[in-house]
Amino acid sequence: MPDPDAPESAPRFRDKPVSFVRRSGRMSDAQERAWDDLSSTYLLEVERDAAATSIRPGSTIDPVAEFGRDAPLVVEIGSGQGHAIVHAAGQSPERDFIAVEVFRAGLARTMLDADREGVRNLRLVEANAPEVLEHLLPEASVDEVWIFFPDPWHKNKHNKRRLIADGFPALAARALRDGGILRLATDWEDYALQMRDVLADAADFEASFEGEWADRFDGRIMTAFERKGIAKGRDIRDLTYRRRSRSA
Ligand SMILES: C[S@@+](CC[C@H](N)C(=O)[O-])C[C@H]1O[C@@H](n2cnc3c(N)ncnc32)[C@H](O)[C@@H]1O
Repeated sequence: MPDPDAPESAPRFRDKPVSFVRRSGRMSDAQERAWDDLSSTYLLEVERDAAATSIRPGSTIDPVAEFGRDAPLVVEIGSGQGHAIVHAAGQSPERDFIAVEVFRAGLARTMLDADREGVRNLRLVEANAPEVLEHLLPEASVDEVWIFFPDPWHKNKHNKRRLIADGFPALAARALRDGGILRLATDWEDYALQMRDVLADAADFEASFEGEWADRFDGRIMTAFERKGIAKGRDIRDLTYRRRSRSA
C-alpha cells in the first residue's frame, strides 16, 4: 500500500492515449455475484497510480507466491470474455496464466467460466496492460505474452491508440524471459502490417516464423472476434516472435 506518511505528490496522469475506452456496461446479476464471490480467488489486488486502471510504479507481484508454485507463466493481454485463456489454462494445468483486461464484465465472465471449469491456474488483473508489463510483472518472469484481436483503432485519427506500436516491444521484452514468446493475432490487415513493422525494428525480438506470416497458433480457440473477422472475409494474421537473450 502507499506510505500514508509520504509527502503527497501531485497526481500524475498518463502522457499517452490508452488503447481502450472503458465500457461502463452494466454487469448481469450473475456477473455481479461472480465479482463478489470469486474475486478473492482469481483477481490480483494491485496498487494504483492516478488512474483507476493504472499500476503504481514500483509495485510488483511475485507470481511464485501468487500461484504457490514456480511454473511457466503465460500472460494474455486484452482477454475480453476470457474464452481463450480459460480454455488454455484448462488444457495446460502445468502452466500458470494471467489475464489482463480493463473490461470488468469480461473479467467477471472469465471468473465464472474458470470456476465452472475448475480452473485454478489462472489469475486476473484489472489494469492497463502496458503498465502491467512495465511495473507489475517482475523482469524476465513471463514465458509467453499473448495478444489476440486487439482493438484495431482503424480510423487514421485513432491509430495512435493502438497497443502494438513503437514503445510496446520494450515493455513486452522487459517482462519476457530470454527465449520467451510473443504471440499476436489480428484480422485487420493494416494493423498486422504495423505489428510486423514494429517488431522488425525491435532489437529484443526475432521472428520465429518463415515467410510473411506465422501459422495459426493452435493453442488459441476461436473467439467471437476471430469468427467475425472470418465472416467478413478478412484474413486472420498470426505473428510469433522470440525474445532474444539479454546477454547476446
Ligand atoms: C477486440 S477485444 C478482443 C478480446 C479477446 N482477445 C478475443 O479475442 O476475444 C480487445 C480487448 O482488449 C481490451 N483492452 C484494450 N486495451 C487494453 C489495455 N491497454 N489493457 C487491458 N486491456 C485492454 C479491451 O477491453 C477488449 O476487451
